[in-house]
Amino acid sequence: MATEEANQEQMPKMHPSILKIINQKKEIRTKLAAIKHKIGVYSAKGGVGKTTVAVNLAFAMKEQGYSVGLLDADIDCPNVTLFLGISDYVEQGYPLKPQEVNGVKVLSTAMFTDDAKKPIIWRGPLIAKMISEFFENTEWGELDYLIIDLPPGTSDAPLSIIQLLELDGFVIVTTPPKIASINAMRSGMMAKRLGVAILGVVENMSSGDPKGGKETAEVLGCDFLGTIKNDPALSTLSDEGKVPVLEDERIRQEFINIIKKITNR
Ligand SMILES: Nc1ncnc2c1ncn2[C@@H]1O[C@H](COP(=O)(O)OP(=O)(O)OP(=O)(O)O)[C@@H](O)[C@H]1O
Ligand SMILES: [Mg+2]
Repeated sequence: MATEEANQEQMPKMHPSILKIINQKKEIRTKLAAIKHKIGVYSAKGGVGKTTVAVNLAFAMKEQGYSVGLLDADIDCPNVTLFLGISDYVEQGYPLKPQEVNGVKVLSTAMFTDDAKKPIIWRGPLIAKMISEFFENTEWGELDYLIIDLPPGTSDAPLSIIQLLELDGFVIVTTPPKIASINAMRSGMMAKRLGVAILGVVENMSSGDPKGGKETAEVLGCDFLGTIKNDPALSTLSDEGKVPVLEDERIRQEFINIIKKITNR
């Protein structure tokens, strides 16, 4: 008996911070159990159109008859509310409730700060804490798809979200130039290292004739989901807080083609 106790004492103990993450995961899993697919829209490179793709994917999916949520998980620069022309701060009780916009359930970190225009200057652990509290306390209800607009980079913030959320897969966004596709390949390699499936690559700001996006998909061994043309209407409508797929038939068709490839998997 004494030997058994001595052996147990020699057993390695989990670090308290790891235990905390495991517990968080358990809670999140029960809260998010009614969500069938959680898809992160991701790119290590900034400004390639992650938010544009996330917003339009979500609304086009809703149009196709799916129940959809849209989560803005970019804590530093939450832009989804700007793209949708909705107010940042929303009076909330418990549990947190997403705001419904044209039938899509939208939640952004911008909704929980007193002034979303003020910069959030937080270190990694605080970002992870904010993200997990945000997820644990939100009532999404039943959803076919939760589309998550991820922040750029390969460090703390996207890592924390990916690990906590247990994403089903990434849609990787890139633009035609070679530099963008090299960074998109980095994004894909990070996804592989974390064991998250790559659903495919979207080439945004494209001429319509696929270049870097297609090459990225070939290198990563995943599907090429399609192109979104470089079109001033996309940024003008987004700036006005309008959703391009609900306003422009050509743009709508581009996103529907991409959705078909994701939902037919
Ligand atoms: N296909 C397109 N044609 C024209 N403009 C576009 C297109 N896609 C995105 N834009 C514009 O490019 C800018 C950057 O897009 P967006 O904010 O979606 O990028 P992002 O990858 O989310 O950026 P960040 O890394 O800062 O989060 C926005 O002004 C957007 O309206
Ligand atoms: Mg963005």
